Amino acid sequence: RKKVTLPTIMSLYRKNEPITVITAHDFPSAHVADQAGIDIVLVGDSLAMVALGMDDTSEVLMEEMLLHCRSVARGAKSAFIVCSPPSYLLLLPLTLYQQVGDLPMGTYEISPDQALQSAITMVKTGRVHGIKLEGGAEMAPTIRKITSAGIPVLAHVGLTPQRQNSLGGFRVQGKTTASAIKLLQDALAVQEAGAFAMVVEAVPAEIATLVTKKLRVPTIGIGAGNGCSGQVLVQVDMLGNFPPGRFLPKFVKKYGDVWGESSRAIQQYKEEVKSRAYPAVEHTYPMPQAELAEFKR
Ligand code: KIV
Ligand code: NA
Repeated sequence: RKKVTLPTIMSLYRKNEPITVITAHDFPSAHVADQAGIDIVLVGDSLAMVALGMDDTSEVLMEEMLLHCRSVARGAKSAFIVCSPPSYLLLLPLTLYQQVGDLPMGTYEISPDQALQSAITMVKTGRVHGIKLEGGAEMAPTIRKITSAGIPVLAHVGLTPQRQNSLGGFRVQGKTTASAIKLLQDALAVQEAGAFAMVVEAVPAEIATLVTKKLRVPTIGIGAGNGCSGQVLVQVDMLGNFPPGRFLPKFVKKYGDVWGESSRAIQQYKEEVKSRAYPAVEHTYPMPQAELAEFKR
């Protein structure tokens, strides 16, 4: 399929055609998303929880993100990977834009310089084309710094999970007039700072729609209704690749039952090994009878 470029994304936005975004954390999850024709693959730091079994995203290290970013870059085949700084500075605005990596907590908050260093590392070592960082108006100088170095930034406003402790947990944002006004100010600030788009997470649908209408860059909603310019979901969540009984945010739609199917298949395998039903004749290599007879002598 045709490579997705930053202009492709902006053209979808202008045509009011929803932009599809999904997370991936390794080669197979990136490959399947790429083959399904998803516009943007996000190496979200949610991999801390869904792939590494951590309690929250604040634990994941830059090295861990980089390892996973590189596997994703190998899986998303229609992606054009730019590797040397001079050429990527020249090429990025014109070429494909497909993988976005999340800067992990603690790698960008201290200063715009620290953030730019982390973003460069993600692009060079992680082989992603853009980076995502959480925060509103207070992150504007950082976003300006990174975008002025030629690295596209996907901002993230509303509920910002890396700050769940100061937000008092995973709570809906923008539910009061005051917090809706703050959301709009944050969205305008990150747009002015040069973000090419922004994730809007866990916000009442009406507010997300109004904010989207006031912007000239796309909003990518998650728990923000269908009035956004695009949608993102965590792949493991939408595939249903988790055990029964696990908490799921209200906005997640389970499009599959990957856990159920994996569990069924593995149990059947286990039983067939125990009963010697597997491997059957068709799974074995035949030996010429004459050779066998000779061997047995
Ligand atoms: O880390 C992540 O997967 C994300 C998306 C859910 C937006 O930030
Ligand atoms: Na994230």
